[in-house]
Amino acid sequence: MTSTRVLTGITTTGTPHLGNYVGAIRPAIASSQDESVQSYYFLADLHALIKASDPKRVQQSRLEIAATWLALGLDTDNAIFYRQSDIRETTELAWMLSCVCAKGLMNRAHAYKASVTDNEENGSPDPDRGITMGLFSYPVLMAADILLFNANRVPVGRDQVQHIEMARDMAGRFNHVYKGNYFTLPEAVVDERVQTLNGLDGRKMSKSYDNTIPLFSSEKKLLKLIRKIKTNSLEPGEPKDPETCTLFQIYSAFASESEEQAMRTRYAEGIGWGDAKNAVFEHLNAQLEAPRGEYERLMQDPGHIESVLQKGAERARSEANTLLERLRPAVGLGRFV
Ligand code: TRP
Repeated sequence: MTSTRVLTGITTTGTPHLGNYVGAIRPAIASSQDESVQSYYFLADLHALIKASDPKRVQQSRLEIAATWLALGLDTDNAIFYRQSDIRETTELAWMLSCVCAKGLMNRAHAYKASVTDNEENGSPDPDRGITMGLFSYPVLMAADILLFNANRVPVGRDQVQHIEMARDMAGRFNHVYKGNYFTLPEAVVDERVQTLNGLDGRKMSKSYDNTIPLFSSEKKLLKLIRKIKTNSLEPGEPKDPETCTLFQIYSAFASESEEQAMRTRYAEGIGWGDAKNAVFEHLNAQLEAPRGEYERLMQDPGHIESVLQKGAERARSEANTLLERLRPAVGLGRFV
């Protein structure tokens, strides 16, 4: 119990794409194999309900994301891998935290503020139009995810740092109000080296821009999508600039230093875009082929995925339960005898 606890959640909306892989999944899987830390990875399916109200899509996304992580070699003996909704203690803790969390703190959350700004810009008379309590109190649920396991480190993207600070705030407040050292203050870990990828149109690869390349597209689809990546009108034979090139950026995320260097040289020598795209496809496909096969196999075997997640949930719940057994009497909700 003295080892560092690293925890992160993956919101289960959409299909994992190359950007998710490079920015989040790949580093997480590498660290799942590190025996000096205890890592917790979970499908944030309660969070998914905030954005998605189509049950079939929520269900499909959960399955795809679980299959993706397993196909890529997540070490589920070492890391604890579970579904947020299987840990009922999460919602119980979220309520306890709600009761110590200042509403004013939530007013400052980026996601909420962005929705209010949208409403104002669209001239709505009600700044809270269309905003649910789920969206508003999203950071409380996230704090519960983190504090439930007393995580020390939380690897996240830049946009999530504020939420970790809010979790620290709630943890400190709870400790203060109930006069005890119940919660560890978590720290956000933003890895500056982790790359963000651009998508087909050159903007950041993101589902909301509809410019993604799904990680486990079929071979045919992968080739088709790579051919769609926006390049410029330079002809074969003209030197090309790798620094400003989405295609090169994607290649680099999958290449060793020497491979990257060799591609740089080909750019300088004026490789044609068609050839460059074929080369990038060959390179990515060679790396993705084996996990893609495994992914397809897993998608046909939801029973296996379910059993892996059940095992994860069992481990997670036993820890969560121990904490809640302390928290309930602390707030006055323990048994009478
Ligand atoms: N909100 C996070 C995101 O959208 C996902 C998430 C939910 C999470 N709970 C978490 C991340 C707890 C880290 C810790 O990316």
